[in-house]
Order: sequence, then structure tokens, then C-alpha cells
Amino acid sequence: MNAVSAGYTIEENASLATHNTLRVAARARRLATLRDASRLPQLLDELGTTPLVLGQGSNVLFTGDYAGDVLLMDTHGVEVDEAEDVTRIAVAAGEIWDDFARWSLSQGFAGLENLILIPGNVGAAPIQNIGAYGVEVAEFIESIEAWDTQTGSVAMLDNAACAFGYRDSIFKRERDRYIVTAVRFALRHSRPLSLDYAGLRQEIARMGYTNPTPYLVAEAVRVLRTRKLPDPAVIGNAGSFFKNPVLPKVQAEAVLASHPDMPSWPVGDDHVKLSAGRLIETCGFKGVREGDAGISPRHALILINHGQASGEQLWALAQRVIDGVEQRFGIHLDPEPRIL
Ligand code: EPU
Repeated sequence: MNAVSAGYTIEENASLATHNTLRVAARARRLATLRDASRLPQLLDELGTTPLVLGQGSNVLFTGDYAGDVLLMDTHGVEVDEAEDVTRIAVAAGEIWDDFARWSLSQGFAGLENLILIPGNVGAAPIQNIGAYGVEVAEFIESIEAWDTQTGSVAMLDNAACAFGYRDSIFKRERDRYIVTAVRFALRHSRPLSLDYAGLRQEIARMGYTNPTPYLVAEAVRVLRTRKLPDPAVIGNAGSFFKNPVLPKVQAEAVLASHPDMPSWPVGDDHVKLSAGRLIETCGFKGVREGDAGISPRHALILINHGQASGEQLWALAQRVIDGVEQRFGIHLDPEPRIL
């Protein structure tokens, strides 16, 4: 690796195998690693291209080598600004999400307890508006500091400007325009607990917590996630590979009429979200394996790499799943990770 300048490095023809949690052995034309956010403009000048930004690589599938440049955000730092009713915390994009979430709980802040153990970096959290157990990160984001590659300047986007939706934001819709450098959270010391998501309240009761605190809710979420979701440190995966489909009410009701046990959640007045996991399981894909590409036997939303699967093989299996659900239910599933 060439130390091009303090603050960042650039490596030619670099392996991405350890930079994507699906553990695909793809290569990038160049791999830049940024350690000092203030050097980003110089780094972009030197690259002369708009790079693909990766944090932990927990939401991408490389279907082959990447012909462009990849930028790894390895920036760190947390700035705390305490006000009377709310504490603002600016977190560098390269911090690990779970470390930050756990730290916030240890400081007595409430809110991120349902979101612990989600893989990825803080800078990636707003891109797909990470969510779990009925809570989405958007609720806690006050603003985002980003580099706007269109204007070549720093942009501050407030929460409304981020246009957050279910696993969605402006950063997904205007792909590659913004490079998130820091996220500013607004956290409080108290917030009503969100316990209504299937299984959470039961898990808390099972653990014997009669008066749960955010910290204890986080413990229950940890148990639930560990039971259901394969750990990317142990087996290659990118969390939910498919998004739950949000359908017009009439279409969802037709599916529910023939599958009354299908988990569903209302979205506004005229849409319904169905469980993609259950749709996939019903089509018989849970636990299938083609070579080293597979669908987790524990959770049908999770595409897994048992070892040496290529990105092409993983994508072929994912497409088989998408086609199978489409044929049986007439519902098109969208992948959650970015397919490259
Ligand atoms: N289900 C099945 N079969 C399966 C998997 C799930 O029938 O193979 C059923 C479950 O029994 C349950 C329902 O589907 O009744 C929902 O399952 P789960 O609670 O696991 O939630 P999910 O909707 O499948 C979403 C998120 C997860 C998040 C969980 C918990 C999406 C795409 N996924 O999954 O997020 O952890 O809720 O809140 O929205 C991620 O985005 O990477 C991720 C893991």
C-alpha cells in the first residue's frame, strides 16, 4: 500500500474480500482508505472519479470485480453537546454502529436499544435508514454532514432533507451524490420504550424483566437477534437480503385471504407490508443451498455464503428466490443491499 499522503491511502487492484460481509472475493480498481475527513476533497481530486463508499461492506453484493474506485471510511470521533432537554452527538462516519449504540446506552441515553447489533458503520446507517424491532434510526438523526460531489462542497442536510422512508433516504435515491462524513444525533435520557414488535415483549418477560430499561431492552434484542440472525463474523451474510414488500391494501388482502397466518403490518391507511421471510419460506427456499450459496435455515431473508461462493452465484440464487416468489404470489421482492 502506498502512503500517498497523511490522512488517506490508495491501493491499486485491491482485494475487497475482507471489506464485504458476504465475503465475496471481488477486487476493486483502486481502494482508497480515508482516515482524516478533512482530506476528502484532496483524495477525490487525486482519484478523479466518484468512488463507491463502503463502511463495513454489510449492505453490498459484488457480482464481479468492481471496475471503479472504492472508498473506505475509516474516520473516528464523537463530539457531545449537552443541552437541557436533549444531547446532540456528532459521530464520524467510520465509527462502528453497534459500538456507538452501546456507548449511547451506557451513557444513559434512550432510543437506540432496539437497534443494537446491526452491522455496519455510523455513516451507512442513514443511507438505508437502518431499522429493527419497530424503530428506525431516522427518528434520532438531527442532521447529516456530507460531501456533495455535485457541487464540490460540504452539505448539511437536516432530517427533512434526508427524506427518510422504509429502508430508504435521499442518499439511496440520489445515488453517489453525497459522501456522508458525520451524523448528528439528538438523544434524550428518556423515551417511551418500543416493545410492540413481534416477540420483543415476550422475550423481555421470558428474561424476567418486569420493569425494563433501555439497557435491558437492548439485552432482549441481543438475544432475539442472536437466535434468529446468523453472525456475519461467523458466516458471510448481509443481514436481510430482501425488503419486506409494501403493497396496496387490496393486493395484500388477496394474499392474506389465502394465507391468513402471513405476518403483516399496516403502512399508512392504504398499504400493507408483508413478511418477505414468510413469502420466501412458503415457496420452499428456506435453508436451500446451491454450492456455497444459500438461504439461511434460520431466517429466509438472509442470503449466506457458506464459504467460497462467488458474487455471481449468490446473485443467481437471489434471483431464483425473487422469481419463485413472483411466480407464486405475483409479488416482486427488491433486494435490500446494493447489487454491484
Ligand atoms: N418469518 C418467517 N420465516 C422466516 C423469517 C421470518 O415466517 O424465515 C416471519 C417471522 O416468524 C415473523 C415475521 O416473519 O412473524 C417477521 O420476522 P422478523 O421479526 O425476523 O422480521 P423481518 O420483517 O423478517 C425485519 C428487518 C430486520 C430486522 C427485523 C426485526 C427488513 C427487510 N428486515 O425483518 O432487519 O432485524 O425486522 O426487527 O425489514 C436487516 O435489515 O438487515 C435486518 C436484519
